Amino acid sequence: ARVDYHTELESTNNTALKLVRDLPEIPVATLVLTEHQTAGRGRGENRWWSGEGGLTFSLLINCDALQIPPSRWPIISLTTGLAVCDAIDRELGDVKPRLKWPNDVYLRGCKVCGILVEVPDSRHARVVIGIGINVNNSAEHAPLELRGFAISLSDLAQRTLGPTDILISILQSLAGRLENLATGCLDLRKDWQKRCLLTGQTIQVEQDKRQLSGLCHGIDEDGALALETDLGLERCLSGTVTHFS
Ligand code: BTN
Repeated sequence: ARVDYHTELESTNNTALKLVRDLPEIPVATLVLTEHQTAGRGRGENRWWSGEGGLTFSLLINCDALQIPPSRWPIISLTTGLAVCDAIDRELGDVKPRLKWPNDVYLRGCKVCGILVEVPDSRHARVVIGIGINVNNSAEHAPLELRGFAISLSDLAQRTLGPTDILISILQSLAGRLENLATGCLDLRKDWQKRCLLTGQTIQVEQDKRQLSGLCHGIDEDGALALETDLGLERCLSGTVTHFS
């Protein structure tokens, strides 16, 4: 694997996407890492806030080499979320991180990590996995609109953590989880059901053309969110959860 480090970047995902364009031969994995993003992106139109002490990186993976077929790319984001949960548990003890389908990790009801998976061009088997995790950037210093919704690992642990340890731990878990994904190992399904934040909650999901609400029954074996609506059971393969309680 290759490491591409910069003190400042617009967005590590943008840099990784450019690498795909400029370097047709990509090793199994390339890590793009920066101290500071000036235009970190979230899903849709969202931006990613990470103050000083946040960890932001992207992993550009070669899905041919890792033997991950395109049919499984839509669940790379959940798989990555599990890897982040594994790493948090390993570094901080059993603190019960949860997956907020399809791409966030929560701790104590607040967002600690966001994941943005992008496929640059479906003709090449390359996928960019962007991860932003609040490590030492305490939510106390977050922009006002995020306070009460965000948390950092240091807020939870009440101490400063080693960002490199967290990074290595996530990359180790991710290597194992991507192997699970390649082999179709059933642990993934069992674990994302176990880690699902929304199970048992009444939620609202916004999709391209419709909005659904109902009782969440967790994440099924295909990575879809199962929702009991007035019209029956719905499986959401994509969308954003706008409300949960
Ligand atoms: C979200 O919460 O919607 C996803 C946030 C993803 C943020 C990470 S930070 C590293 C990588 N580069 C970006 O511009 N975004 C992702």
